[in-house]
Amino acid sequence: MYKRINLFIAVLFVLPAFQVIGQDWVVPAENSAIENPQEYTLKNVKLGKDLYMVNCKSCHGDPGKNNPLPLVPVPPDVVSDQMQSNSVGDLYYKMSIGKGAMPQFETTISEDNRWRIVNFIMNYNSNRKQLLEDKPPVKAQLLASINEDDGTVNVFAEYEDKGGDYSKLVDVPVIFSLKKTFGNLELGECITNENGRSDFIIPGSLIGNEEGFVTIVVSLGEDYEAKDVILENAKICMSKEVPKLIRQGVIWSTNDNLPMWLLLSYIGMVGGAWLAIGYVVFQIIKIRKYSKE
Ligand code: HEC
Repeated sequence: MYKRINLFIAVLFVLPAFQVIGQDWVVPAENSAIENPQEYTLKNVKLGKDLYMVNCKSCHGDPGKNNPLPLVPVPPDVVSDQMQSNSVGDLYYKMSIGKGAMPQFETTISEDNRWRIVNFIMNYNSNRKQLLEDKPPVKAQLLASINEDDGTVNVFAEYEDKGGDYSKLVDVPVIFSLKKTFGNLELGECITNENGRSDFIIPGSLIGNEEGFVTIVVSLGEDYEAKDVILENAKICMSKEVPKLIRQGVIWSTNDNLPMWLLLSYIGMVGGAWLAIGYVVFQIIKIRKYSKE
């Protein structure tokens, strides 16, 4: 008798769990029909990829590699028919609300970014043109020099072809950044011409260190495996004017250098402190007066 009850209870609890696992994931028709407000462009697919790598790859694995985390049910590969049979609206809905082991991303990833992840998943849809290809980076080489007279950086780029020879890289973006203590600051990019060359004009407003030196980093995009060229201590921009007072460690020694907000908050603080002291003294006098009476 007890055995039967146990079995009954077990079935009662286990069945719904199986039901949840076995259930088809139905998306309401109005959600399913929503179109992607983020355009299907290389830029959006790339942004979506970065987000996918951070938020989804740990469970769904690398696209096309079939290496998901062994959960129940198994998180489908991005390239799989199971994933690709979803409409863009389905994908957006499912990643927003989650189900079982699949987390909901409604609160952690912005609307725009969730749609960008949809664009990344659609990059593997057979009905679409694949914008982003997972090909290994091409070996390349960069040469760069600075012309201090006209403030330009002259670049030459070449890549290693299948035969192992180097030929010029045509129509490829080269990225210029300013080396800073904490990471690099992108200045801009230019495209190589038919000779694999390009000139980048350093913005005239760029401010270097006290002597006017900057360090420029020249690099190729992620499609190429090339060493960055680091042009150290280039004298091409204005020197930074460091006020004498700061250099001596005396920042606000004259009223001319004193910002208004600092003056006001100083007066406020000192005035407030004196008012508080005055109030306490006044109360003490009052207490003494009453105790005498
Ligand atoms: C913790 C693991 C985990 C993470 C992280 C995760 N998923 Fe999932 N995902 C799952 C599981 C498990 C399922 C299967 C759910 C089911 O069918 O019950 C799933 C299912 C899905 C589905 C539905 C596929 C179908 O069958 O139609 C989509 C779409 C999806 N995930 C997208 C994403 C996206 C996009 C991200 C990142 C923003 C993500 N997932 C992150 C585990 C995860």
